[in-house]
Order: sequence, then C-alpha cells, then structure tokens
Amino acid sequence: MSAPGNVIELAGIRKVFRQVLAPQEGSGMLARLFSRGGAKPAEQGGVPEPGGGISDGAAGDVEGGVEVLSDISLNIARGEFVALQGTSGSGKSTLLHLLGLLDRPTAGTYKLLGRDVSGLSDDDLSHLRNATLGFVFQSFYLVPYATALENVLLPGMYSNTPQAELRQRALSLLDRVGLADRVHFKPANLSGGQQQRVAMARALLNQPELILADEPTGQLDSATSQEIMRLFAQVNETGTSIVLVTHDEAVAGKAGRVIRLADGRIIADSGS
Ligand SMILES: Nc1ncnc2c1ncn2[C@@H]1O[C@H](COP(=O)(O)OP(=O)(O)OP(=O)(O)O)[C@@H](O)[C@H]1O
Ligand SMILES: [Mg+2]
Repeated sequence: MSAPGNVIELAGIRKVFRQVLAPQEGSGMLARLFSRGGAKPAEQGGVPEPGGGISDGAAGDVEGGVEVLSDISLNIARGEFVALQGTSGSGKSTLLHLLGLLDRPTAGTYKLLGRDVSGLSDDDLSHLRNATLGFVFQSFYLVPYATALENVLLPGMYSNTPQAELRQRALSLLDRVGLADRVHFKPANLSGGQQQRVAMARALLNQPELILADEPTGQLDSATSQEIMRLFAQVNETGTSIVLVTHDEAVAGKAGRVIRLADGRIIADSGS
C-alpha cells in the first residue's frame, strides 16, 4: 500500500534509451501534452520513439542502449515544492517526462497519487495526465495563433466540466497571474514573462495535484524570473505540489527541498 500522503512514489526506476533520438522537447510537445491516447511525436521529423508512442522496451534490455536513469527511488509528499538540479545531461528532463506520464520507465515502479501507472494504456495515461498534472516549460509552448484565454482553455478540451465554468476559471486564473487586461492577446504580443504566466494559468486550469516545470525561468531575466517564482510559491501555498527543474541556485532556493542528480542517480536530497 502507498502512503496516502504521497503524490509521487518511485522505486528502482531505470530508463534506457536504446537509440539516439530527437530531443523530447520541441514543436511536438504541445500535441503530446494535450492529445488523447499515445503521445506520438509525429511533428518531430517523423523520428520514432522506442517502441512507438510512450511505450518502452522490456525491463533489463540495456543491449546497445544508454542508461540515463539508474535506480531512482523517491517519495514526494503532497504539498511539497521540490527543485531538481544537476548538470546538463544528468537526466532531469528524462525524469520529469517519466513523472509527467510522457514517457515510461524501462524498469521500476511509479505510483502517482497512490496508483501504479505501469499497467495503464496510453489512453488512460493521457486522461490521468490531463486530470492531475500541469506542465510549464522553458519555451512556454503556447499556441501562437490562439489568444491567452484560448491557450489557457486548451487542457479543458477533454474535461467534463461545462465550458462556461472552464471559461470563468480561465479568466480568473489569468486575473490571478496578472493578465486580466491581456486575455485576448496572442503570444507574439506578450512579453516572455507574460507568456510564461499564460502557461502557468494553463497548467492550473484542471486544478492539478502536481505541477511539473522544466527550467520555467530559463528564458527570463532575473526580475521576471523572481515574479514567476513568486507565482509558483503562491500556487504551492494553495496545496499544489511542484517539481521544478532549474540550473539557477536562486530559483532552487525557493523550493522546500532540493534533489540533485548526477549521471542518472540521486546524489543529494535535502528532504531525506
Ligand atoms: N529521446 C532520447 N533518446 C536518446 N537519448 C536521450 C533522449 N533524451 C535524452 N537522452 C539522453 O539522456 C541523457 C539525459 O538527458 P536529459 O535531457 O534528461 O538531461 P538534462 O539533465 O535535462 O539536461 P539539460 O540540463 O541539458 O536539460 C543525455 O545523455 C541525453 O543525451
Ligand atoms: Mg533538460
């Protein structure tokens, strides 16, 4: 049984990439985040993922592959604010993608909100992702031809919540992130900090248990970065758990717990 207080429980997680593939981020990320079913990166130049979609090969198959995560065991309690640090290539984004149900581990177990996700279909994973997780990335991933409001409404596509209620929620989230007067602006007419605020409002639309953020301040100057971190702190104060990847020590300092990765292993964890 899982402890009811944990949002994440990882045990013995390994990730082996069996071939060199296109980076996992890029123009395909939007489709992966908000699509139903398999998260196939069709937009990434047609480069297939191992096993297709987010499925992976059998456990233990390291033949000709590169082990990018090794024996990661980790619990994150509800309401925690965790910063994930480590040098480039240490496996931070790979781990975040596993946590975000955007990829599957090669071995080990992952329980999200007490539920073992390893047996779930791609469809179930998409549903669970949409209902319980919010994402924020370095490069915002807003739809360029959609307004701020339409971008925030994107994760509501498959929600059972009535449209009118979602729209009210989206407007109130945009107000909360300080963009009440920009709801009909398109991304190109917003500053980087404002675009990231839109992305944060979007991440919150479905009232997620957990926000996953990969270098959310990486493209922002330090003042704007501080504003965005204040927003993360406010979101965390309302009880939402956060796992945030950052190179920036000042950003990591805002988190309650810092986990450090090196070569795919946890080498330090201030929370254990
Ligand atoms: N889709 C993939 N196919 C093959 N190898 C991959 C894939 N994605 C990542 N890797 C490899 O896994 C390792 C960890 O990559 P990852 O992107 O998780 O690092 P990171 O800690 O996020 O680095 P950075 O700080 O530069 O973003 C790297 O050696 C990378 O080359
Ligand atoms: Mg990364």
